[in-house]
Amino acid sequence: MSPTDQKIPSIEITPRSVFENRRQLIKLAAAGGFGMALAPWFSRDALAIASQKLIATPNPAFMVKDGSTSYKNITSYNNFYEFGTDKSDPMAYADSLQTRPWTVTIEGLVKKPVTLDIDALLKLAPMEERVYRMRCVEGWSMVIPWDGYSLSRLLNQVEPLGSAKYVEFISLSDRKQMPGVKSNIIDWPYREGLRLDEAMNPLTLLTFGLYGEALPKQNGAPVRIVIPWKYGFKSAKSIVKIRLTEEMPKTSWNQIDPREYGFYSNVNPSVDHPRWSQATERRIGDPKGIFAPKIKTEMFNGYADQVAGLYSGMDLKKYY
Ligand code: MTE
Repeated sequence: MSPTDQKIPSIEITPRSVFENRRQLIKLAAAGGFGMALAPWFSRDALAIASQKLIATPNPAFMVKDGSTSYKNITSYNNFYEFGTDKSDPMAYADSLQTRPWTVTIEGLVKKPVTLDIDALLKLAPMEERVYRMRCVEGWSMVIPWDGYSLSRLLNQVEPLGSAKYVEFISLSDRKQMPGVKSNIIDWPYREGLRLDEAMNPLTLLTFGLYGEALPKQNGAPVRIVIPWKYGFKSAKSIVKIRLTEEMPKTSWNQIDPREYGFYSNVNPSVDHPRWSQATERRIGDPKGIFAPKIKTEMFNGYADQVAGLYSGMDLKKYY
């Protein structure tokens, strides 16, 4: 599909956009893209939530076959420490987050540093829907239809300098809006980072929505990063700054405990976390609950074809 075939991305609340979006989802569902989880989402949550719709074109190159996790599970079982440490805290408290006005600054080792308004950032490239497997280091996983475009589209615009080796992502930290920031569990703001070639990999998604709707606040509105071959904590939420650097950036979890959380944090079933085995995972929302058979975790979360080459020759036990 050429870029001109794709719809202009926009946030609209018109009945037309709602209708078109539904139609796309139905088409995708008919093609087997969403599996079993679509029906409950349609019947319960989608109709009840008057949120902003995103026009996103499904990209068949980035669809996993596993059934998607329900909208309800994706939006009610979250890690977002700015709103508390319980999985239910983000949904309960993220309402106080103000997502407009919002700007994202891209700075550091780039030829064209820029501060973009979120609504300009949204329109920078055609919005795609991609269904990604997501694996948390705690041993659970979800399958999430994300809406966004490859981060490389943005990075190419600002023209990284030859000296740029890493990309740092910095989340909003505001005590007034984020009750969890009062705790000192993290040296705020939340920070994450990638090597530049990881950030440029087409899988790395600058993400504005899920299930065809603007990101719910608990999932990192208005913009987050999603890196499906790494543990979930690498996917920083509610980003305000993207900085290109020569030095490997400090990252929040690595600062908390470098033995438990390395910089790379690639999903790797043969390298266990000191407290949790990474060999298997539990899919959130499996109707069999605790009796559901554990799923074998795949190397790079099943994305080895796309990313294994980034790490050729590296000892992944050492660079965990
Ligand atoms: N980003 C910020 N700013 N703050 C956080 O606490 N938690 C991370 C990551 N991004 C976190 C964050 C962790 S531990 C996980 S598992 C994922 O977000 C969870 O994303 P989800 O709630 O959308 O599934």
